[in-house]
Amino acid sequence: MLGLVTTLNDQAPMALREVAAPQPQRNEALVEVRAFSLNRGELRSIRNNGEGWIPGQDVGGIVVRQAADGSGPPAGARVVALTDVSGWAQRVAVPSHRMALLPDQVSFSQAATLPVAGLTALRTLRHGAPLLGKRVLITGAAGGVGTIAVQLAARSGARVTAVVGRPERAAGLRELGALEVIEGIGQAAGRFALILESTGGASLLQAIKRVEAKGTVVVYGNSANEPTMIAFADFRPAPNARVQSFSYFTSEAEDRFAPDLALLASLIADGSLKPQIGVERSWRDFTAVAEQLRDRRVSGKAVLLVD
Ligand SMILES: NC(=O)c1ccc[n+]([C@@H]2O[C@H](COP(=O)([O-])OP(=O)(O)OC[C@H]3O[C@@H](n4cnc5c(N)ncnc54)[C@H](OP(=O)(O)O)[C@@H]3O)[C@@H](O)[C@H]2O)c1
Repeated sequence: MLGLVTTLNDQAPMALREVAAPQPQRNEALVEVRAFSLNRGELRSIRNNGEGWIPGQDVGGIVVRQAADGSGPPAGARVVALTDVSGWAQRVAVPSHRMALLPDQVSFSQAATLPVAGLTALRTLRHGAPLLGKRVLITGAAGGVGTIAVQLAARSGARVTAVVGRPERAAGLRELGALEVIEGIGQAAGRFALILESTGGASLLQAIKRVEAKGTVVVYGNSANEPTMIAFADFRPAPNARVQSFSYFTSEAEDRFAPDLALLASLIADGSLKPQIGVERSWRDFTAVAEQLRDRRVSGKAVLLVD
């Protein structure tokens, strides 16, 4: 089979190559990958691994062979699946509890937007639950996690402030449910019960200065790759506010993956979650698409089709 593997070539860091077929464990199904999406973290990890490594966590596809222990969806089922690695290939082995059936209305590309970005949006928002009537601020709102988080927060009754980096990045965010869209967190007025912070550096300090007493700043990324200096005094106007770190793989119990993926897929099916697919191309176009994502030119998710 073919897989997108790391190379040692900086100009073309990934290449389509013939690779060994996966050998599923007893609790793993063999899935034919139809679409996968790219994540900023995966682009970073490409550089940190040697030659011949296959990244890939977000998969939409079809079960070719059910897990040998009889768990999970049967052969022929359309699924959304979360893998540790190796999803950028024609086939991948997936633990049966890390996948969910796809309703007919949900495409493989839409499914591929859900595992990392969808679970991160859903689970970071849970740190502020119940959200009805609360002010929620979301940095990186035009990105993969952000566009889903804006929709889920608004659907839960939150008053959402979306932060973007440039005016053109604001497009469509009000339609997704944002009450206001601002350019840079510095423009945010007032305080917020929940802040989803993924930009890092100065943005994280600004977030801490805008959280309300007993509110929560969920720190789940550092897209700017910059450190933040904070001091106890920054919390004086918001006593007992919390800074909560977040990692989607370990944020909740393993047996919550399938129900959460099923929930997200059902929200697409009933029309209340509209995945924003900014780019959808063949996986042969990986290099160009990765560059777009790295340069902040993708609104929502970048999806590649295994065609
Ligand atoms: N902890 C976890 O479990 C977890 C899970 C998923 C993602 N993450 C991390 O969370 C961040 C957001 O993920 P994502 O998938 O939404 O990424 P994404 O699609 O690339 O979106 C990131 C957004 O951040 C904004 N941004 C602001 N400053 C930036 C900078 N200096 N460099 C790059 N982007 C910047 C960009 O919006 P503008 O261009 O409008 O400013 C962009 O839309 C990433 O850093 C990712 O690695 C962590």
